[in-house]
Amino acid sequence: MAPILLACYMSGAGAVAAAGGMTARYTRAFVRPLGSNPAAATRRAASHQQTRHMMMASASSVAEGKQLDARVHTGHHKNNVPVALSEKIGRELHRNPSHPLGIIKDRIEGYFRERAATTGVAVEIVDNFFPVVSIVNNFDDLLIPPDHVSRSPIDTYYVDDQQVLRTHTSAHQSTMLGKGYEAFLVTGDVYRRDEIDRTHYPVFHQMEGVRVFPGLLEKSGSREEGVKMVEKDLKDALEGMVMALFGDVERRWVDTYFPFTDPSFELEIFYNDEWLEVLGCGVMQQEIVRKAGKGETLGWAFGLGLERLAMVLFQIPDIRLFWSTDKRFTDQFSAGKISKFSPFSKYPPCYKDVSFWVDPVAGFNNNDFFEIVRGVGGDLVESVVLVDEFVHPKTGRGSKCFRVNYRSMERSLTNDEIDVLQEEVRKQMAEALKVELR
Ligand code: DAH
Repeated sequence: MAPILLACYMSGAGAVAAAGGMTARYTRAFVRPLGSNPAAATRRAASHQQTRHMMMASASSVAEGKQLDARVHTGHHKNNVPVALSEKIGRELHRNPSHPLGIIKDRIEGYFRERAATTGVAVEIVDNFFPVVSIVNNFDDLLIPPDHVSRSPIDTYYVDDQQVLRTHTSAHQSTMLGKGYEAFLVTGDVYRRDEIDRTHYPVFHQMEGVRVFPGLLEKSGSREEGVKMVEKDLKDALEGMVMALFGDVERRWVDTYFPFTDPSFELEIFYNDEWLEVLGCGVMQQEIVRKAGKGETLGWAFGLGLERLAMVLFQIPDIRLFWSTDKRFTDQFSAGKISKFSPFSKYPPCYKDVSFWVDPVAGFNNNDFFEIVRGVGGDLVESVVLVDEFVHPKTGRGSKCFRVNYRSMERSLTNDEIDVLQEEVRKQMAEALKVELR
């Protein structure tokens, strides 16, 4: 349902679908102290994929890990960040120059650096901002309304009542402007509670770009004229960027809506026989610029999802692969080079269905369930699909059946080991979601 990049902030179908989930309550049960989930712990230890655990061999990284835990796992009653997710903080895939995400980031940064040389306005490049940001920075600064669905704890990871795991890199727009930068790129990991399939993962990466034009308003005579010039520069810059990545592809601009820009656009390219949405952008809302202390200065902004681009450019079929530390994955890529990924295997899937009655008072939110599955199955879960849903005609009780598809990207799974995981999923569902398993 929700595309990697823009789902939460648009007025369209994604937002409506998310709003549909707002009735269900949120439970706190996913917030576990480290290591309190035995099945997940066993799986993690076995898979050797949790780098932070491995790093903990040295004394200083133990300290770093504790510091990180304290910043994310605050103990606040609003905290809904699962341990398995916070373990991803610090992986910083986008800062690895020979990881597909790092390769794309470097390519885009290189393009904007070159462009800066022609415009004479230096571009500030940031890729190491910590992902815990204030609610003000993530939502209010960007004019996202107080009742917007994206603020719900169903969709967003709260650290406490003032802070979230950033849901987009736009969260840094205001502070960067406030510091006086005229042009900047901010790349980072962003976090959203979402469904489970080959293009959705609760953490992914975005790049934000902003350019403001001091003095342009005065020169252009009217705001209207100025906005036109900004729009032209924005479109030139981004079409150039797309060509730096994809070559001379067919492109089109689509009008859209974002709370933080007006006018707002999406850039699409015709690639592999289909139109592909590449990014969202627009002329910055003046109120955002004004609040950041830059008065009536005009500016543009864009945001793009790195995984979405990388999946297309490198032909990477499953978003979980980005997190793989398997050499058969990592050794395929080298700095500066966009190359086609050759799948090293397709191991057999193993699926398990779970059916249950929903408690009419407690309700049921899919994202809460997905998070339990993620917490237990980790990257062994390929997708979760709703296969059946009905309301009992006599009792009026709702029933759902989900199919959890397990598949490792690195080895064959045994039915026995998946049974253990699925049993743990069922146990946690019964405890945390107040459902009656069938
Ligand atoms: N923050 C948006 C998202 O994550 C992407 C975006 C759209 C960023 C338009 C921008 C922009 O800066 O102008 O969905």
